[in-house]
Amino acid sequence: MKIIRQHFSTIDSTNDYGLRNAHLFDAENVTLITADRQEKGRGRGSRVWFSPENKNIYASFCFFLPDNRKDVGNLSQLLAVSVCEVLLKWGLQPIVKWPNDILISNKKIAGVLCEIKHLGANYCIVDGVGINVNMSKEEMENLDKPATSVREEVRMIIDQAQLLDDLQLQFIIDLQGFIKDGFRPFFDSFSRFVRPFLKKEIQFHESRRIWKGIFHSLNDDGSLNLQLPSGEICRFYAGDILF
Ligand code: BTN
Repeated sequence: MKIIRQHFSTIDSTNDYGLRNAHLFDAENVTLITADRQEKGRGRGSRVWFSPENKNIYASFCFFLPDNRKDVGNLSQLLAVSVCEVLLKWGLQPIVKWPNDILISNKKIAGVLCEIKHLGANYCIVDGVGINVNMSKEEMENLDKPATSVREEVRMIIDQAQLLDDLQLQFIIDLQGFIKDGFRPFFDSFSRFVRPFLKKEIQFHESRRIWKGIFHSLNDDGSLNLQLPSGEICRFYAGDILF
């Protein structure tokens, strides 16, 4: 399996491009869509993803899996693990705010948006990631949530191409492992990045409802167990821990 890269100087959104053009991609390999800037960068929950020119990584890994796979819901967590492994190698200490926000010192450094399109007997997976790389503190000041960048954390200008190369290498290895053995081999690594939130009191947003409780544990399919004040444990497959 190899990566076929398509780069654009300007794009609406690398995820939208991937979803629109899925039928044209090589079914045996991964098509990686990247851009210098996005005009309509999207985050989860219809949020806008700030995408200024030549500052950050905007990338969507597009690939195919048979539509009888039940674990495609884990592919956003798989990419989050790959990003965290790369950031670790770059000397950072990332954590994952379930399900797949990547934080450093409680500030967001990267986010994953995984979208799926049904094509014949396959799913085309568009696994998109935005990593704040060379944005300065000032540039991130007006974002709606606390944010940081690799540059701010390591205190030097970052070679963005090198960081993307490292991510490509890591993700292709992880994806091949996932295709063969599923999410289980990545569960320990995922748990390690999520651990700082475990047993903590959290507010959890799901289907327009806010739940309060303790982040009790993870299940090995990556879902979250929330312990409600009544003691009851609720299992969630989607949602957001609020900042
Ligand atoms: C989030 O944390 O809400 C997810 C952010 C995902 C942003 C990336 S940037 C590349 C790809 N294209 C998009 O429009 N979104 C994703």
